[in-house]
Amino acid sequence: MKVLTVCGTRPDTIKMAPIINELKKYPREVELIEVVTGQHKEMLDQVVKAFALTPMYNLNIMSSKQTLSSITAKILTGLEEIIQKHEPNVIIAQGDTSTTFAASLSAFYHKIPFAHIEAGLRTNNKYDPFPEEMNRRITSLLADVHFAPTEINRDNLLKEGVDPSSIFITGNTVIDALLYIAGQDYKFEDEKLNDFIKNKKIILLTTHRRENWGEPMRDICKAVKRIVKDFPEYGVVFPVHKNPIVREVVFPEFEGVENVYLTEPFDYVPFVHIQKESHLILTDSGGVQEEAPSLGVPVIVLRKTTERPEGVSAGNSKLVGTDPELIYKTVKELTENKEAYDKMSQTANPYGDGKSAEETIKVLFERYG
Ligand code: UD1
Ligand code: UDP
Repeated sequence: MKVLTVCGTRPDTIKMAPIINELKKYPREVELIEVVTGQHKEMLDQVVKAFALTPMYNLNIMSSKQTLSSITAKILTGLEEIIQKHEPNVIIAQGDTSTTFAASLSAFYHKIPFAHIEAGLRTNNKYDPFPEEMNRRITSLLADVHFAPTEINRDNLLKEGVDPSSIFITGNTVIDALLYIAGQDYKFEDEKLNDFIKNKKIILLTTHRRENWGEPMRDICKAVKRIVKDFPEYGVVFPVHKNPIVREVVFPEFEGVENVYLTEPFDYVPFVHIQKESHLILTDSGGVQEEAPSLGVPVIVLRKTTERPEGVSAGNSKLVGTDPELIYKTVKELTENKEAYDKMSQTANPYGDGKSAEETIKVLFERYG
């Protein structure tokens, strides 16, 4: 089986890593062509290292403040030559990034079957998340086999008329990745961070979504400033996304603010461990919503919609949005009401059991081996 894998941002590479590493267990049966687009740079390189990936090609497309059009155009052009040279039996990509969308379109242009990992997540709102909702919907139209993490995801695909025999519920590969990393010992090298963790109850914050750029992100910062002022026993750890558009808002907001520890994005291993150390997570990330339930940490989702309703139904996460008053009140409630907190910190994970890659590869062998 000749398989071409495509990934290129932090989250899709974390979630593709278990698939790639599972494929590598079959060197005689599988010819693997590992491509990274380089849609991210530093944030991609750290994942490649954490999972010991060995890309054969890096399209190196990233530029500062890149546009959606330039990402897609550069990936389509870059993949063309590679696909023509290798003529794979199947192309695989994960999720809803522009890397994923461009990979599926490229597969279609070359009439090569496309397998979509993490298929069927939907908000049914064209612009939220933007552009991810349409990236994944278009990818579903072009895919030949759909690996849906949950039943809800499969039902979303069925409602759109996808052939049931092409959908497989396999859980989310992010749990495979998480379990691989969470078992390893880790000690933060940064003594300032170690002191912070020792002396404070940690609230972890991440935000990067396009819908939150500008005013909503400023509102999140306002809420956080009020929280650390009123609850001095808490400290906020905030790895700030590399995107300059995020940094232009965040850095000035927190200048001179105590009890907020701003840092570069964590590498994946330390990030899993800082999640484990956290009392509460505030985030607009998709992947973090999926990981936190395994670590028993409640999540406040800083978005209007989520394509991950399973965590909300299970009680691990609360969809709060970016209204500063509402964020503040929700955090206050969870700091004061132990029963409410304990309910949210249960550890059952609705997104998978860590065997997703194995299940996925079985199907790929049946179809394309
Ligand atoms: C992308 C994905 C989003 C995903 C997010 C995860 C798209 C359209 N968006 O959004 O779905 O949730 O990744 O983080 O696919 N940058 C660096 N170094 C890096 C990474 C980014 O400097 O390692 C800066 C660059 O200036 C780049 C900018 O961040 O132009 C934005 O990167 P981009 O991939 O376009 O968007 P994200 O917001 O990261
Ligand atoms: N993550 C990381 N370092 C950080 C923040 C997040 O390694 O500083 C990991 C996190 O564990 C998760 C993934 O990045 O697996 C989520 O990526 P992101 O929030 O950038 O994108 P999304 O999941 O929202 O598409």
